[in-house]
Amino acid sequence: MSEPKSPEIQSVLTEGRQFPPPKTFSERAVLGSMEAYERLYAESIADPEAFFAERARELHWFTPFKQTREWNHPHVKWFLGGTLNLAYNCLDRHLTTSRRDKAALHWEGENGDTRSLSYLELHREVCRFANVLTQSGLVAGDRVALYMGMVPELVIATLACARIGATHSVIFGGFSATAIADRVNDASARAIVTCDGAWRRGKLVPLKANVDEALDRCPSVERVFVVQRTGNDMNLVEGRDVLWHEAMATASHEHDAAPLDSEHPSFILYTSGTTGKPKGVVHSTAGYLLGAYLTTKYVFDLRDDDVYFCTADVGWITGHTYVVYGPLSNGATVFMYEGAPDFPEKDRFWALIARWKVSIFYTAPTAIRAFIKWGDEHPARHDLSSLRLLGTVGEPINPEAWIWYRKHIGGDRCPIVDTFWQTETGSIMISPLPGATTTTPGSATRPFFGVEADVVRKDGSPCGPDEGGFLVIKQPWPSMLRTVWGDDARYQTQYFSQIPPYYFAGDGARRDALGNFWIMGRIDDVMNVSGHRLGTMEIESALVSHEAVAEAAVVGRPDEATGTAVVAFVSLRPGYSPEAALKEALKGHVTREIGALARPAEIRFTQLLPKTRSGKIMRRLLGDVASNRQTLGDTTTLEDLSVLAALREDQE
Ligand code: WT7
Repeated sequence: MSEPKSPEIQSVLTEGRQFPPPKTFSERAVLGSMEAYERLYAESIADPEAFFAERARELHWFTPFKQTREWNHPHVKWFLGGTLNLAYNCLDRHLTTSRRDKAALHWEGENGDTRSLSYLELHREVCRFANVLTQSGLVAGDRVALYMGMVPELVIATLACARIGATHSVIFGGFSATAIADRVNDASARAIVTCDGAWRRGKLVPLKANVDEALDRCPSVERVFVVQRTGNDMNLVEGRDVLWHEAMATASHEHDAAPLDSEHPSFILYTSGTTGKPKGVVHSTAGYLLGAYLTTKYVFDLRDDDVYFCTADVGWITGHTYVVYGPLSNGATVFMYEGAPDFPEKDRFWALIARWKVSIFYTAPTAIRAFIKWGDEHPARHDLSSLRLLGTVGEPINPEAWIWYRKHIGGDRCPIVDTFWQTETGSIMISPLPGATTTTPGSATRPFFGVEADVVRKDGSPCGPDEGGFLVIKQPWPSMLRTVWGDDARYQTQYFSQIPPYYFAGDGARRDALGNFWIMGRIDDVMNVSGHRLGTMEIESALVSHEAVAEAAVVGRPDEATGTAVVAFVSLRPGYSPEAALKEALKGHVTREIGALARPAEIRFTQLLPKTRSGKIMRRLLGDVASNRQTLGDTTTLEDLSVLAALREDQE
């Protein structure tokens, strides 16, 4: 194979540690060998329609589908002619089995309150709220916004919308009134479900007050349902606002789930992108559910005795697919936590795992890097022996953070599934299957069934082994987004016009000689240093492999000599102080790990990095700081503006 003159991205990371699945894990796993994976994967690619039609029959249908797929590039439909219901598949289906009285949901509030709901109890609550929605005049196809804390009522409201076919739009509870108004107006939502307030680090977040402020600008909203969680004072608007518990008290717990078309828009979710105006990603009913169901079953290897804890908020896609639809359609027991991981102490997650005997734990690299920063003693204090499987999602995970996670949380015993996917993909696209795949820290390994992933050059030709390029998906998959709400042109240009005719959503990657995928970060973050196109993730990983470093973010700054100079923002582990000598040591460390081409021109120590509300580092803003540019771009997704101000003051 001929080497291209200049690769799209040059890979410099070498990571060779390998972890085969433990034999005892494989023996009991849903899928227990690489041979089984290879066989099913080959089947799913050779004939995706036959593969997914067979799997779709594991779901409950009111009317069977007549055609499996219609691919009219770039639009796809799956399971045409079929009718089904998401909530029916998550609840009713289990009521005729032994799962009827099993816990569907265990919940712990930040203040220590607890609740548990069996499948039967959750079903009744969902039916009640479905009746409340219907009595308020809401019908299939209406949009309903949910702006709530992480309370059981959020799951109930989500499923109740799905039950009547109201397209839900969950708005993360950390967003402001402006963000609520933008999203509600874009979708013309007719109703909002909210809470009086939410607990976060012991403080009250005034959710209802935020909604009131937003609604001054939202003429489409006729009805507001309010769950009383915190008991704070709030304003109730006569004729518009309804208290949840009052409406629920008189509602029947019987309700027939609506038979919905397989392509019915089940929800809109606005992406938390690091640039630009939020997009309303629209998901289907049947294809979405199949993706959620199948990936949860295989990637999380769910068994009936598992207690499964995904730390994501339901306001993100991870919460939709892996707190609600995936685990419940599999009949799992979900554990849900309301509050912050460091409240009242930095060991809260570990206390929860020990108390609720959590067996599967799924979180984000940004959280893992925070755990590392907080110190090893917090997990060490708790009995984490109930855990059998760990997962990560959201960003590339630096190999050293992966190793820390395996050792300090997984007791060197639990497999780790590094799951690559996006809001737009609906469900996991690239991930190990824990009973089958040999994992390597930093690699999401192999594509899921039916996912024809590849790494290509700008002209669409496939890259060779370890040649960095664009990550594309060549065939539609069931849980793929269907459009951008109200802007189908944006759907086409955003995802299908950069590397036509493929789906491309912005990530750089390489594939090694074994066929494993390594996500190298967003293409927008690639830097051109002396003609070498470098991804940020690999330099960051080299920094994180130094004993003093907990977290690092690398950006480019214009430089006369090299075109771009590498600037690294670094936060330190406990016990290390930000000294000039350490800066030199870190520069030397990167030179040794990668080579002089990646040597940072400048290291800046910082306590915190600017992140989106979902925890992604906003390198664009760091680039502005490093170059002494004024920040002109959008900062509305930034979690904490004061971080940016602090970075600007903190010059060398
Ligand atoms: C972007 C999607 C999908 C759940 C949460 C994020 C990055 C996500 C990984 C991973 C490397 C990852 C990508 C992707 N990403 N998971 N395992 N390894 N990168 O959803 O907000 O839509 O973000 O997150 O850059 O494109 P999202």
